[in-house]
Amino acid sequence: MNVYLDNAATTPLDPLVLDAMMPYMTEHFGNPSSTHAFGRKTKNAIEISRKKVADYLNAEPSEIIFTSGGTEADNMALRCGVMDLGVKRIITSCIEHHAVGHTAEHLRDHFNIQVEYVKLNQDGHVNVQHLEELLSNDSLKTMVSLMHGNNEIGNLISLEAISNLCKKYKAYFHSDTVQTMGHYRFDMKAIDIDFVTCAAHKFHGPKGVGFLYINKNTPIEYMMSGGSQERGHRGGTENLYGIVGLAKAMEIAHDHMEEHQVSIQGLKTYMKEQLQEMIPSIIINGEENSERSLYTVLSVCFPLSERSSMFLFNLDINGVCVSGGSACTAGSNVGSHVLAALPNSQNCQPVRFSFGRFTTKEEIDYALDKVREMVAIPV
Ligand SMILES: Cc1ncc(COP(=O)(O)O)c(C=O)c1O
Repeated sequence: MNVYLDNAATTPLDPLVLDAMMPYMTEHFGNPSSTHAFGRKTKNAIEISRKKVADYLNAEPSEIIFTSGGTEADNMALRCGVMDLGVKRIITSCIEHHAVGHTAEHLRDHFNIQVEYVKLNQDGHVNVQHLEELLSNDSLKTMVSLMHGNNEIGNLISLEAISNLCKKYKAYFHSDTVQTMGHYRFDMKAIDIDFVTCAAHKFHGPKGVGFLYINKNTPIEYMMSGGSQERGHRGGTENLYGIVGLAKAMEIAHDHMEEHQVSIQGLKTYMKEQLQEMIPSIIINGEENSERSLYTVLSVCFPLSERSSMFLFNLDINGVCVSGGSACTAGSNVGSHVLAALPNSQNCQPVRFSFGRFTTKEEIDYALDKVREMVAIPV
């Protein structure tokens, strides 16, 4: 049996999404910038997709800029903040995805931007009091960049609370919503936020496509110069079938969202309880309260033993695919910068199980059996 429990890294493409994309890989191939019938057909498909995505977010179509995914959208928000909005200071956290963390460091090292890190509480949540102290302390034009759902430990922030603080201190607010878009409902008219980001492959859409939501009152220009695609914000012939697939994946996600939330949360809770029963000293990384934790991510730390360094490898050869941290760190020797920031998650073997709507209870039971076998082997 092969069990895929790494849905925070990427999710399988929904066959219905592929069906929606196929005509745009075959007969509808026109360049959307061409003014003839072939071009009008594909341009229309992009604009219908944009309208669909905007409707799900209660946003305006002009506020959605399609990109190559989450990394590009995060880069665009931070870099355009500096270039076009005059941002001189970025407040972020040390548990952001590298798409934000490394971009902030680059802007600090090459553009003299002040980068400050908000303190975290023991459970990995942003210390909101410290954020307010930082915001009240300086008169530099500031952007706050804090992720909505953490890809490694699943902690969720309150977008509303952070947005209210940013508003109070006149700071721009960007949130990396790559792990939550397609999994939670967003209402961009209810929350005052300048930028949010999306990658379609995190909710059963295609890889290499996403978007940046840019609030219409936040006047940025472009990160990619070239043609006038994406209303001049991003030059380059559009990823037509990717965009069509993204919109279809959004539609499916939104049509069944509450149903998926309940069933996936049920699997997460079941796995957590079974692991705790099996290994009482297991540590749950990050937030445990389901109101403040992604229902798709369960990050745990197994107690160290002589075997634990082989834990992921053994799961893999037994057909269970999980991650040691995030996909970006799993293939390298660099430890997780997120777990390093959590005081309770040191000196143990971290494993991230992450679930999607194609995950079944049988698969969870199979994975639990494999963990049980590994834990039972005498050292
Ligand atoms: C929180 C977060 N932000 C950004 C990204 C980058 O997205 P992409 O790989 O689509 O560029 C990821 C992907 O793992 C992510 O989990």
